[in-house]
Amino acid sequence: MRIAPGGTVGILGGGQLGRMLAQAAKKLGYRTVVLTPETDSPASQVADETIVAPYKREEALKEFADKVDVMTYEFENIPIQTVLFASKDKPVQPSAPALKTSQNRLDEKTFLNRIGVPTTPFAAVQLLDDLVAEAPLLGFPCVLKTQRGGYDGKGQVLIRERREMGRAHAEMMGQPSIIEAFVEFTRELSIICVRGASGAILFYPVVENEHRNHILFRTLAPAEISDRLEQRAQTIASKIAEGLDYIGVLTVEMFETVDGGLLVNEIAPRVHNSGHWTIEACKTSQFENHIRAICGLPLGQTTQTHRAVMTNLIGDDIDKVPEWEAQPQTTVHLYGKAEARPGRKMGHVTQIFPLDD
Ligand SMILES: Nc1ncnc2c1ncn2[C@@H]1O[C@H](COP(=O)(O)OP(=O)(O)O)[C@@H](O)[C@H]1O
Ligand SMILES: [Mg+2]
Repeated sequence: MRIAPGGTVGILGGGQLGRMLAQAAKKLGYRTVVLTPETDSPASQVADETIVAPYKREEALKEFADKVDVMTYEFENIPIQTVLFASKDKPVQPSAPALKTSQNRLDEKTFLNRIGVPTTPFAAVQLLDDLVAEAPLLGFPCVLKTQRGGYDGKGQVLIRERREMGRAHAEMMGQPSIIEAFVEFTRELSIICVRGASGAILFYPVVENEHRNHILFRTLAPAEISDRLEQRAQTIASKIAEGLDYIGVLTVEMFETVDGGLLVNEIAPRVHNSGHWTIEACKTSQFENHIRAICGLPLGQTTQTHRAVMTNLIGDDIDKVPEWEAQPQTTVHLYGKAEARPGRKMGHVTQIFPLDD
């Protein structure tokens, strides 16, 4: 199905990813409607229209679906019922099953292993007894995470040794969890791909991600990796996209292991912070390609035109904006958030350089 420019794209969620999706949609000639519980959200500041309502309010979802031709979402913790309800009226891409798989860390890793994509070993945990039985098999340190709802390192705790198990389990507050073996990674990498309605897949180059306090701090594009590893990442991404019969932009977060292998950490059924650099340094940005894919347009070329470094502006990093603005070949993106709380992503900066530098 092709939704011609002039049509309307609905975006569930009002954050910065929604904002940049709306900007890309506008560039392609689409109208945008955002549904978010937040007033004056980053996305609503640039969308043509916003419906401010809780995600589960059915009248609001109905109104939203009536106004648009296709819907997408900008974060994966949108209630699945919301997407299922809205998709009775209009198409939602990526599809509800793809969203459901990535919302639950246990389902996600089980799916990945089933299609032959390696992850760190893991086990489901509900009771403290489960943790006590499973953690020693995985070895210490290990990481206990809630199955649902985590982001930017929230909902996870490192268990260094046996006697920390009780406290870690208590921190999950009874939520279904997953225990994972700790990965002694050499680098964190991600690959972003886009799959169109025809099944065609294009890949952005693999990038290297540096985290601080579990939050993405910086992305280096491209990652300095061998062609073999690049190929391996592409094979993994296409297996996942095909396994989910996916339409849109998909991100795969990976660990590079000491022996030079790749383990998938998690997938995001959406545009991703580690792909913001594509706005300035690729022929077509991740945001434009997501809109193209969900509207049934041909995909744009993902070719990288410049080497890029993307740095997040987190909390009071916003005070450094005047310094960044004075730098050559540097683009500052601000998300229009009024309050700079610690850990809050306020904007990002992309620096570009010649590719062969
Ligand atoms: N099993 C693990 N071994 C080593 N580091 C991990 C592991 N799981 C998570 N981390 C670290 O924590 C970060 C955030 O974890 P992740 O599972 O990606 O959750 P989130 O949804 O918060 O992004 C990762 O990018 C990585 O740096
Ligand atoms: Mg992550």
